[in-house]
Amino acid sequence: MSNNAKPGGEARSGKARTESLQTANLQLSDAQLEAFLHTHGIPERIVQYFDELPEKLVKLGGGGRMRSILDCGGGNGQYLDMLLDHFPQAEGTLVDSAQFMLDQNKSHPRKRLVLENLENMASLIDSGQKFDLICFSDVLHHCIVSTYAGTRALQTTILKNAAKLLAAGGHVVVSERIIDSWITDEFSAKLAYTLTRSKMLANVTRLFGANTAGVGVCFTPRKRFLKLVDDAGLSLVEVVLDEENNFSLKRRIKILIWLLGLGAKSLRHELFLLK
Ligand SMILES: C[S@@+](CC[C@H](N)C(=O)[O-])C[C@H]1O[C@@H](n2cnc3c(N)ncnc32)[C@H](O)[C@@H]1O
Repeated sequence: MSNNAKPGGEARSGKARTESLQTANLQLSDAQLEAFLHTHGIPERIVQYFDELPEKLVKLGGGGRMRSILDCGGGNGQYLDMLLDHFPQAEGTLVDSAQFMLDQNKSHPRKRLVLENLENMASLIDSGQKFDLICFSDVLHHCIVSTYAGTRALQTTILKNAAKLLAAGGHVVVSERIIDSWITDEFSAKLAYTLTRSKMLANVTRLFGANTAGVGVCFTPRKRFLKLVDDAGLSLVEVVLDEENNFSLKRRIKILIWLLGLGAKSLRHELFLLK
């Protein structure tokens, strides 16, 4: 497996698209990835969550050690940079399968970049390194293959890999889009997956704000997410709503259209603390 690790480092430069890994999952184009560059920075509520996390973990008897952090699908590195600022003793590793995203990282003396698939992560697992904190911010729903069942299997494999890489007393933080349906548990998630996968409908889904139009996205019902966690051998410590509540009117209307169209009760961001 190609490994782009560079201690303290920047990703190597080069033609982004051609150098990105061929992952089992379907890849977004560089233009679609550009939408994730977070030009507005990390939301204050997330920064605050990590402010309070070590103390919370100590109270929960977890120790709260933050010496090694793994950011899975870490993209342009803003999230990991924020964590490294919070935890000055910590060394960070960022894994992403898109060279384009690695190339957007700022250099940081305690950050290492690895070009790797989350469904594989062989280079990390083989090295025997373990992590106190493993994060997935807005990543799992982008890990998809060409069938819905295969996608859930892929997501389980990815969480299993995280479990293998977790140090004793360590924790996993997953920020994920949770979709619950009025119809059956998985109805809205499957419909969103099918619609966003469709190349024929890509112009329409893009119009309604789907930046994954033509490639696909796979949001997860709460119940299914907890099953993925269980299947991966992890367990839930807490779940908190991870969402701004001051959406613009335009955004509210788009969300409402998606909810009605998908038969969904809710589509929200939640943050799961796992061990
Ligand atoms: C929405 S971005 C999130 C980036 C970052 N975590 C953040 O919150 O800013 C999703 C990231 O997941 C990466 N990704 C998607 N599938 C992946 C896979 N199978 N292996 C590794 N990275 C993957 C993409 O390249 C992209 O950088």
